[in-house]
Amino acid sequence: MKLIFATHNPNKVIELNKQLPSSIALSDLLELGFNEEIPETENTLEGNAILKATYIYDKTGNDVFADDTGLEIEALNGEPGVFSARYAGNNKNATENIKKVLKNMEGVTNRKAQFRTVFALIIAGKLQLLEGVIKGSILKQPQGDNGFGYDPIFCPNGYTQSFAEISLDEKSKISHRGIATQKLVAFLKNRT
Ligand code: IMP
Repeated sequence: MKLIFATHNPNKVIELNKQLPSSIALSDLLELGFNEEIPETENTLEGNAILKATYIYDKTGNDVFADDTGLEIEALNGEPGVFSARYAGNNKNATENIKKVLKNMEGVTNRKAQFRTVFALIIAGKLQLLEGVIKGSILKQPQGDNGFGYDPIFCPNGYTQSFAEISLDEKSKISHRGIATQKLVAFLKNRT
């Protein structure tokens, strides 16, 4: 089946393709020549994922899904959450975002955090939401060079390394997006 992933982020497509069966042909927005950014104007992950999926479905009529992810830090009342990408400003700079988190977490002993991904899936015009969560903690300083975004400061529970220090294969198995993807695969299999 042909499925559009409403994203411009090649890292996410690489991660996802590792988990999807070959029967699912994934295309992203760059491949479709759709270069404009879809504004994320909602104030929840669910709202933004639905907005992006609906936008592309209305334009193409194709089966589509969109994601939105947030890093939710307990001691910061769930921040940066839905504002994760632009936490330190509109240029979406990962290094600046990390700096801001570490500054806000100075002297804070409760380091609990989670990544949460929401997938909004529109198949044959029907909307379905799927969620993936990974719990962990915020490190005191960045560690590792793999991955992207907040990976260098997030240590998943049960690990001593950050997401930026483990392999992409391992991250995909346990991550928020990995879990949401497993649910996506199960959902699509149940339909056939
Ligand atoms: P978005 O849902 O792709 O807009 O992601 C929101 C923010 O979370 C961006 O700043 C991303 O860099 C960050 N983010 C999303 N997924 C991950 C991840 O797997 N690791 C680290 N940061 C992530």
